[in-house]
Amino acid sequence: MSDMKKTMLITGAAGGVGRATVKHFHERGFRVIGVDRQSVYAEFPTDGLFIQADISVPENLEKIFAQATEFTPTLDVLVNNAGFQVTKPLVETTVEEWDMVMASNLRSVFLGAKLAYPLLKAEGGGAIVNVSSVHAVATSANIAAYAASKGGLLALTRAMAIEFAPDNIRVNAVLPGAVDTPMLRAGFHRGRENEASEESQLAALAAKTVNGRVALPEEIASVIYFLADNAQSSFITGQGLLADGGATCRLSTE
Ligand code: NAI
Repeated sequence: MSDMKKTMLITGAAGGVGRATVKHFHERGFRVIGVDRQSVYAEFPTDGLFIQADISVPENLEKIFAQATEFTPTLDVLVNNAGFQVTKPLVETTVEEWDMVMASNLRSVFLGAKLAYPLLKAEGGGAIVNVSSVHAVATSANIAAYAASKGGLLALTRAMAIEFAPDNIRVNAVLPGAVDTPMLRAGFHRGRENEASEESQLAALAAKTVNGRVALPEEIASVIYFLADNAQSSFITGQGLLADGGATCRLSTE
């Protein structure tokens, strides 16, 4: 392709945060490559490429990057956004479930970074944004594998930032609090009988944040864009930016 558009690749593109981020970058002139194990969605930009694939399988990442570079040989931004939760007590979590969470949320980022690095370097630099979670810094019961994967992702962000800095590649993480997406709403349906309505559970959750609401997916998309945009965040690398409506700033003993 001969035009001067910048390219970004995002995993978990068909989810709540993913869709908002695809739209946000596309509206700002990016060519978008989206990856998700869900099937293609109608509104995906027509000048972009959607790849249906499961990133927990290492060989699939090689196929994804081969397809992406066939589509366009350059890469400017990688957003590691795909995420998967197992919500059950630690002692009931199986080895298979633990491995699946780690493979989806953490190993895929390590393998994706290896494949994206030469492409970003060839462009003279770029940015990687990893979507971690508040669970990297404070967590709750019944979500140990997910919390460990998100904590690992924050540590991996620092390691990547240090190793990639000489090539002008910045690496940061966003740590969202509760965001109104299919993942959040799915969590309301697990393990509860006679449950309250989804909306009242959402309201109860919102009441626990300092600013009294959960985030819209677009509010995380704009933070991802900020961390990817050299014009706005050129001196920020190796950081985890909490976008949680103040959820983690209040002492739980208060
Ligand atoms: P979502 O469930 O709407 O979207 C996640 C997407 O990732 C889904 O489309 C899913 O198919 C895809 N995905 C998961 N595992 C995959 C795999 N192995 N291969 C390919 N695709 C895979 O969830 P949401 O909320 O949009 O999540 C986006 C990111 O934000 C995730 O990393 C999540 O952990 C993180 N996050 C979300 C929060 C929330 O409250 N919704 C809070 C903190 C972090």
